[in-house]
Amino acid sequence: MAIRQASFLSYLLYSFFILLLCCSCDKVKAYGRERLEAAINSRLPAASCSLFPQCYNHSTKLQIVHKNGPCSQSDLVKNTTFSPLQILLHDQLRLQSIHSRISNAISGGQFRASIPAKFGLPLGMAEYIVKVGFGTPTQYFTLFFDTGSSVTWIQCQPCAISCYQQLEPIFDPSNSSSYSFIPCDSDYCSQLIPAVYSVQPCNSTSTTISTCTYQITYMDNFTSIGYFGLDTLTLSSDVFPGFQFGCSQGTRGDNGMIAGTLGLGRDQVSLVSQTAKTYGEIFSYCLPSSNSLGYLAFGSQAGTGSTSIKYTPLVIDLNAPSFYVVQLIGISVGGRNLSIPPSVFKSPGTIIDSGTTLTYLPPSAYAALRSAFRQGMTNYPPAPPLSPDGLDTCYDLSKSATNVVTPSVVFYFEGGASLDVDLTGRVIGDSSLSQVCLAFAATSSPNEFGVLGNLLQQTYEVIYDVAGQRLGFGSGGCT
Ligand SMILES: *[C@@H]1O[C@H](CO)[C@@H](O)[C@H](O)[C@H]1NC(C)=O
Ligand SMILES: *[C@@H]1O[C@H](CO)[C@@H](O)[C@H](O)[C@H]1NC(C)=O
Ligand SMILES: *[C@@H]1O[C@H](CO)[C@@H](O)[C@H](O)[C@H]1NC(C)=O
Ligand SMILES: *[C@@H]1O[C@H](CO)[C@@H](O)[C@H](O)[C@H]1NC(C)=O
Ligand SMILES: *[C@@H]1O[C@H](CO)[C@@H](O)[C@H](O)[C@H]1NC(C)=O
Ligand SMILES: *[C@@H]1O[C@H](CO)[C@@H](O)[C@H](O)[C@H]1NC(C)=O
Repeated sequence: MAIRQASFLSYLLYSFFILLLCCSCDKVKAYGRERLEAAINSRLPAASCSLFPQCYNHSTKLQIVHKNGPCSQSDLVKNTTFSPLQILLHDQLRLQSIHSRISNAISGGQFRASIPAKFGLPLGMAEYIVKVGFGTPTQYFTLFFDTGSSVTWIQCQPCAISCYQQLEPIFDPSNSSSYSFIPCDSDYCSQLIPAVYSVQPCNSTSTTISTCTYQITYMDNFTSIGYFGLDTLTLSSDVFPGFQFGCSQGTRGDNGMIAGTLGLGRDQVSLVSQTAKTYGEIFSYCLPSSNSLGYLAFGSQAGTGSTSIKYTPLVIDLNAPSFYVVQLIGISVGGRNLSIPPSVFKSPGTIIDSGTTLTYLPPSAYAALRSAFRQGMTNYPPAPPLSPDGLDTCYDLSKSATNVVTPSVVFYFEGGASLDVDLTGRVIGDSSLSQVCLAFAATSSPNEFGVLGNLLQQTYEVIYDVAGQRLGFGSGGCT
């Protein structure tokens, strides 16, 4: 009895303590264990698709599905899940790729000249997939979408070199009445070059190679080789005749059953430029967290998912013309602004990317965030770091009470936009909750661009108003 009373008393005290913390200001947030588990498990295979009859079938927006989520239609796709450490390693490769493309721009193209086949971004772990149509009659394919690269490609028959297994039958251009090849001496073909993929030059002595051919090698060594073609692209109910895309004839590596990539980057060959007349270079997405659906919306549909959108200017950065760059100005943790000089964020800047998972900050900004986060987590037993290069602030929450209290994290941007990072964006870990880590890391040098990853963006509607040169964040975007 006495023991029960004591534990009840401590429970009361504990609740009171949490109540105090929560009521004194909005600095910390309590999460039910279920919510924390759901947040952590959002990267693991989820419930069956039958819960979501709307999967892939929205009239005006494309449904975005988490690769491992309930609407992902194949076990083969679902089973390719990754540990937090694998995610970190993947991110590091992707960041290297981003930064080498930027150094290339800075050093005037030398990188491209010397290492022609190393320009893409890795695909193997891209998390979000959409379904779009190609050809006449329309055939639908599941593609990764990527704001960090601009070329759209799919596997095509006759797979002259090799194709990997994919969810849908492989596209056969000879069965599409609207398909045409792109000659290698066309403007289309030369347009590809700034998208930093290797394009075979025209060979006037050869009669066989007259179509525009390309090779993309992503940083994880996934390679696609093929030719460029034109065919009708169908995005929900909108039809775009003469869309330029890569018809992959051979790959090295496996893309996990996904037919290819939808390139939403900033280069001229991007889907955003190619559909500009219809959509006015505006698109938005909401990346779903666990068990929910997101969407990719274009034109007038963009910006209709959230009622509270705030914008920040999209920076035109000549060093990073392929990427979406924004100006981060400050961060608060637990309701307190970190004292980070604005110059830390200003130079060189911050890229927003759908294909990087964690969020990367200049080293001094990360150190300040980590230190404030640790101060807000002293009630929880620390766990060993997952890696010295990131995911270095971990806690064992497996034995914690039903409520977990973590400090809020808010990112502030130029122009008044802010992003109150959802729990899903703040921590990452294993489903046992024995090693739950802060989902941020430092860039390897203060001179590198920071990167806002997809965990941070989850549940927000993110609007890319490219024509208006602004980027918006709206809360509650997926609901
Ligand atoms: C998609 O929606 C349309 C119209 O609402 C319906 O006719 C069709 O059967 C649906 N397709 C799937 C796969 O659910
Ligand atoms: C995927 O995982 C499920 C459940 O763990 C299993 O039944 C299935 O065989 C796996 N599929 C593949 C292709 O590994
Ligand atoms: C293309 O057409 C051929 C002959 O009509 C047919 O055998 C083949 O299945 C078609 N391929 C696809 C992917 O539809
Ligand atoms: C051009 O094509 C001819 C014939 O196929 C080949 O012998 C030659 O090596 C090619 N030249 C270049 C620069 O690829
Ligand atoms: C990519 O492949 C090349 C050649 O097969 C190999 O030398 C290199 O180590 C690989 N890189 C990675 C990151 O696996
Ligand atoms: C923190 O900084 C942001 C951006 O400069 C500002 O809008 C906000 O009012 C500041 N908050 C506090 C509590 O000082």
